[in-house]
Amino acid sequence: MRLLSVRLIISLILGITLISLGFSYYKVVQDKRALRSDLERNAETLGESVAGNVEKSWESGPRGLQRIVQPFGNREHMLGVAVYDPQGKVLAITSELGKVLTSTPREVTQAMAEGHEKSSYFRLGDEPVHIFALPLSRQDQLVGGLAVVHDVGYIHAQSLRAWRQTFLAVLAQVFLIVLITLVIVRLSIAGPIARAAQWMRALRLGRISSRQQIPDLDLFRPLAREVVTMAESLSQARIAAENEARLRDASESRWTADRLAVQVQTRLDGGLLFVVSNREPYTHWRNGKSIEVVVPPSGLVTALEPVLDACDGTWIAHGNGDADAEVVDAHDRLRVPPQDPRYTLRRVWLSKEEEEGYYYGFANEGLWPLCHIAHTRPIFRSQDWEQYQEVNSKFTAALLQEIENVPKPVVLVQDYHFALLPRMIKKLRPDARVAIFWHIPWPNPEAFGICPWQRELVKGLLGADLIGFHIQSHCNNFLQTVDRVVESRVDWEHFSVTRQNHRTIVRPFPISVSLTDDESAESDNSPVNYLDRSALLHGLGGEATFMGVGVDRVDYTKGILERFLAIERFLEKYPQYQNKFTFVQIGAPSRTHIKRYHDLLAEVEAEAERINWRFQSGKWKPILFLKRQHTHEEIERYYRAADLCLVTSLHDGMNLVAKEFLAARSDERGVLILSQFTGAARELRDALLVNPYDIDQTADAIRAALEMEPEEKQMRVHRMRRTIKEHNIYRWAGNLVTELCELRLDVADQKQEKSRGSVATA
Ligand code: F6P
Repeated sequence: MRLLSVRLIISLILGITLISLGFSYYKVVQDKRALRSDLERNAETLGESVAGNVEKSWESGPRGLQRIVQPFGNREHMLGVAVYDPQGKVLAITSELGKVLTSTPREVTQAMAEGHEKSSYFRLGDEPVHIFALPLSRQDQLVGGLAVVHDVGYIHAQSLRAWRQTFLAVLAQVFLIVLITLVIVRLSIAGPIARAAQWMRALRLGRISSRQQIPDLDLFRPLAREVVTMAESLSQARIAAENEARLRDASESRWTADRLAVQVQTRLDGGLLFVVSNREPYTHWRNGKSIEVVVPPSGLVTALEPVLDACDGTWIAHGNGDADAEVVDAHDRLRVPPQDPRYTLRRVWLSKEEEEGYYYGFANEGLWPLCHIAHTRPIFRSQDWEQYQEVNSKFTAALLQEIENVPKPVVLVQDYHFALLPRMIKKLRPDARVAIFWHIPWPNPEAFGICPWQRELVKGLLGADLIGFHIQSHCNNFLQTVDRVVESRVDWEHFSVTRQNHRTIVRPFPISVSLTDDESAESDNSPVNYLDRSALLHGLGGEATFMGVGVDRVDYTKGILERFLAIERFLEKYPQYQNKFTFVQIGAPSRTHIKRYHDLLAEVEAEAERINWRFQSGKWKPILFLKRQHTHEEIERYYRAADLCLVTSLHDGMNLVAKEFLAARSDERGVLILSQFTGAARELRDALLVNPYDIDQTADAIRAALEMEPEEKQMRVHRMRRTIKEHNIYRWAGNLVTELCELRLDVADQKQEKSRGSVATA
């Protein structure tokens, strides 16, 4: 830049000087010429007038003539006047001229000889002079000659002065022009270029992101657009390269949305992904004239949304929002998420009877308590079973429609609502790869055996190529059930079942949340929790020094009543925490159409009230029960503000609340108290594990959590977050899809066998 400035300055100086000098030279020459012609004109006028006088007074002789010419010796710029006779002898001459003009000027002689005026410049000694000579005559007779001589030194002096002034003007001009040019260059060129360079440098060093606004580049605005685009491409390439390097470093153990997308696309090999679940990821509800979008409180939705986000595909689900039908197209489809559409949601409509029998009845009054064994008696009604079969057929029909022209579709069926679906699909589309993931526990064969339709359910499930559970013990329970219930070959070594030439493999896939190895989250150590806590509790009309949180659908499997009893016991046993510890229970009402759930909601409320009545004083209350569905953002604020999170499920397939709480704690604070009867307890060994039926143990765990040293809390959260990052939802989906896509399909096997047979016969 400096070199550029020096060059620019030199060129400017030279250029401007040369041009200015050229113009000045021209002007000085012009001025000089004008002065000379003025002088010549004056000399001529003067000469003619003096000549007239001299001619008239010729008779007066040299004395008289001297008197006539003498006054002209004092005129400005005038050297003098001289009168000569025809032989060139001086008759009269002004005194000053007489001193320097010693001989008759050639011009006078010529003028007399030629009979007309002569004018010329010459040097008289050192002085430049102008002479105007003319013949003098009387009655047409030449009588002599006249010379009018001017000193032209003043013209030289004036030219010199003009040169000097021009030189100074040029100097000032050069200085000003260079200065102005440099200022313009600095402001409009060098400044923006320097700002752009600074921005690009910060980008290169990773201090800012390419999304950060580029500074105003003034004249270079069109260039700025190109620079931004290029910076974005570079930064994306760098992120990809960093991710790749990190993945390599972590021995391929880190999973991200990007990696999942690539993995799934590779595995699908041109095929498409289809998910079937009862619960839809987005529901639309009428609110006066407008329509509201609500994300239902479901672990399944939390887990599957990032998968669909990453891979596109189609999610088929029951449309249960009262405005759901208003927002779909003619094929009952819409693109979601509403604010950033990335995949297709296909809605299936159910009648009241179907919903009643299939969802509330068979799935949630039968299978749910059957699989959870949480002391609520399963109810099996034959009409519910009818509806369950009907609805499974209905969803099969919807799926078959969606995959009609799709070669090699990959189908992920979700949960206990669709045990019959895998078999129904495979019957009509044996080329489809079908997996079912069972999100709830699978009990031992004795417990499962009380279901009157256990055989049909197991056969339905065995239609799948792959069956997934959260943990190994659920896989074992399932294989034992298969062993008892249907004719088949169970291979315990490979965890597979072969029935009627169809092989199903059974594997654990611990579901998770979308936490990744994101450095920016890692470095977020701000103590937001303490500030947020008082704001949150204050907003709820309470106050406390310590805060615990629980987040659940209000479901009898979640152990909410046991949790409240543990809080009561804790305050009883450790009264120093009265007035200091408040527990916020977020409880989303769920399946309230079922009496057991409806009653439970009332019981939970009554229990919170009873305990509050017993302990509350002033503004302080031990339990704040927030009976409504909260958004993810709202829940996250509670997670981040809490000293501890209580998960006390009596039995749970996985429990994602435990993992969501840890995912929210990028500050590495807070303690997780976790029921040993959750699938999550197998992975999160640094939680305080409790038996939720043991009220005293849970009460003691609350105290231990509140009194735990900050270093220990940090170490535990850090380790558990690392586990979740390594086993996040992307790994869950990636492994599930990979396992499913790597299986040898029976159809392919059969075709191969057939072709082998035909080759043999040939
Ligand atoms: O735990 C099983 C499950 O299906 C979850 O996947 C989901 O979070 C929960 O039940 C929701 O239940 P529902 O869809 O009946 O409200």
